[in-house]
Amino acid sequence: MSRILIFTGKGGVGKTSVAAAHARHSALEQKKTLIVSTDMAHNLSDIFQTQLGKTTTKIDDNLYGLEIDPYHMLENEFSDMKQGLLTMISSSGLPVEDLDQLSVIPGQDELLSLLKILEIYESNEFDRIIVDCAPTGETLALLKFPELLSWYMEKFLPVGKVALRVLSPISKTVFKMELPNKAAISDIEKLFVRMMDLQTLLKNREVTSIRLVAMPEKMVVEETKRNYMYMNLYNFHVDGLYINRILPNDIDNPFFNEWITIQSNYIEELNAVFYNTPIYNIPWFDTDLNGLTGIDKIEQNVLRDRDVFAIVPDEHEDKYEKVEGGYVLKLYLPCTNKGDVDMHESATDIILKIGNFKRSIPKPSILRDHFISKASFEDDNLLITISQE
Ligand SMILES: Nc1ncnc2c1ncn2[C@@H]1O[C@H](COP(=O)(O)OP(=O)(O)OP(=O)(O)O)[C@@H](O)[C@H]1O
Ligand SMILES: [Mg+2]
Repeated sequence: MSRILIFTGKGGVGKTSVAAAHARHSALEQKKTLIVSTDMAHNLSDIFQTQLGKTTTKIDDNLYGLEIDPYHMLENEFSDMKQGLLTMISSSGLPVEDLDQLSVIPGQDELLSLLKILEIYESNEFDRIIVDCAPTGETLALLKFPELLSWYMEKFLPVGKVALRVLSPISKTVFKMELPNKAAISDIEKLFVRMMDLQTLLKNREVTSIRLVAMPEKMVVEETKRNYMYMNLYNFHVDGLYINRILPNDIDNPFFNEWITIQSNYIEELNAVFYNTPIYNIPWFDTDLNGLTGIDKIEQNVLRDRDVFAIVPDEHEDKYEKVEGGYVLKLYLPCTNKGDVDMHESATDIILKIGNFKRSIPKPSILRDHFISKASFEDDNLLITISQE
């Protein structure tokens, strides 16, 4: 089974360098590897000194690269999807003449990139797919989008007029558009099916995992912790933390001594948060890493002796557990206080909101007559008790 590793983190922390080092390492292990950039500001070509582009290009033995261009893809490869998206949007009454106006759908570039990755995965052509993402905010949009859209579509596709009426206000606020009328549903059905496939692939913890890249400094550490919390909110499998640009301990210079102390405090903090996640420490090298020689420094210093593609056992998956009088839904939510979480429920879903991020967790059908009776935090887990009224 192939692996998909998605590298993300704050701008400039070293995502592309670390992702590229993994691609090199994987190819050296004789695994057929593809490195994909979903960041519109592509820079893989520079690093690998090979002109990459819209189609898969060979870089070296076992190593291939691709810089995804969502618009090119939509025009040339995904015409069904284009039709589905256009139908949805034209039903919103917005004037849509060309594809640029598709931007009414939040996160559409990211969605298209992910659909491309799904297609590549299904082609079974590669053992490993390494994804170099845009900075955190965009990656989060990318990862939460399938859940939102598939949730929305799942709710209305199989049901009739009643649901359409009930759900219309939700679709207006979430997607700023009207639901397509019933005649249009078949047009978007294909897109819906792909979204469901994508969701399943991204949540398959044996295949897809997220790797966070950070640096030991205040702003980055804070964003990394937030990012980690959101990844867990959406139930993604985070199975690696990279702490980049660590100063060597043996610089004898008062200016750096201060920085070394500051860094070691943040490294300690990250170790405490990611205590059961593999952590990789990357030194601050004496020059920047442009080009293959730079990437190989990370490969040799940090990855060479580690089993970086292993599937890490994971205790953080959402779980329902039977207790007396009902069930407990256990969600791993590190770096979160109870007060940050806004919780609602409907007959079919438990809805959690933290900051601007919202997740609907469907209740299994046998629990549709159960409702939230209690919620508490224990060891970074949010425990939601649901019982029969
Ligand atoms: N450990 C390191 N030592 C020295 N230079 C580094 C190190 N890690 C990264 N760099 C340099 O820092 C710069 C940014 O790295 P990189 O492009 O990998 O970051 P990024 O997170 O992908 O950035 P962006 O958010 O812009 O995509 C590059 O010039 C890279 O060579
Ligand atoms: Mg980058």
